[in-house]
Amino acid sequence: MSEAQRIDGRAFAEGLRGRVTSQVTKLKQAHAITPGLAVVLLGEDPASQVYVRNKGVQTVECGMNSYTHKLDIETSETDLLALVQKLNADDAVHGILVQLPLPSHIDEAKVINAIDPNKDVDGFHVINSGRLATGQDAMVPCTPSGCIMLIKDQLGDDLSGKRAVVVGRSNIVGKPVAQLLLNENCTVTIAHSRTKDLPGECRNADILIAAVGVPQLVKGEWIKPGACVIDVGVNRIAAPERGEGKTRLVGDVDYDAAAQVAGSITPVPGGVGPMTIAVLLASTLKACCRIHGVDVPEA
Ligand code: GUN
Repeated sequence: MSEAQRIDGRAFAEGLRGRVTSQVTKLKQAHAITPGLAVVLLGEDPASQVYVRNKGVQTVECGMNSYTHKLDIETSETDLLALVQKLNADDAVHGILVQLPLPSHIDEAKVINAIDPNKDVDGFHVINSGRLATGQDAMVPCTPSGCIMLIKDQLGDDLSGKRAVVVGRSNIVGKPVAQLLLNENCTVTIAHSRTKDLPGECRNADILIAAVGVPQLVKGEWIKPGACVIDVGVNRIAAPERGEGKTRLVGDVDYDAAAQVAGSITPVPGGVGPMTIAVLLASTLKACCRIHGVDVPEA
């Protein structure tokens, strides 16, 4: 079998950001409204700092306002909740994102559920996860939404009847992406660390989503020939072949082996990763339009 189609998430994300930019321009012209996204980061985790910086840069590039709140790692839950309330009440802010994970002295669920559901661009509030689970219009988590866009770009809009296996059951990716696939009429299996025959489950998948955070867990022999493989993992591993102390990024899938079997597959980096911020910007635009009671402009 020939090598799988490499799914270019970077190019797709660039196209999506271009469409959001033109929609924001039209929104400003028609209604004199500028969407605003507030991002809150506690502490100085290097990976989170990079994400937050990229979010700020890309928000401004799209013509939206960006408000970044960098707080000390020791910030109390009370102070964080007070900031969330302030952002909820701020008319210039249409999207609020609190970067996860939060330090252990803070109750993550309490903070997420303090965000106004209409400004919850992460889609993590119980109201939004409940709406998603019951097929109502919801703010949808960004990475899962980006996965569905890439899958539909490969397989077409009609996913009904396809067997989808999601490896991982996190609130950020596994559960919501399974819900989205179910809403697309896929037959969905959620596999996890206690699953009895993980290779066997994966081999059933027309669509395989790996989101467990275990480097190269999914092997080539686990892939159904022709499957669409979406790798959400971002894992840094030692790369002594590049020199002493060097590292490289790999996904949850053994890419080289899987690409010999799959029909299409996302690389790491350059697959799902770039989609997350692009979808976040689209969600911020959507939240802004909904708050102001206006239609989202055509791209
Ligand atoms: N940390 C890792 N992914 C995410 C995400 O999608 N949203 C937030 N808020 N934090 C994250």
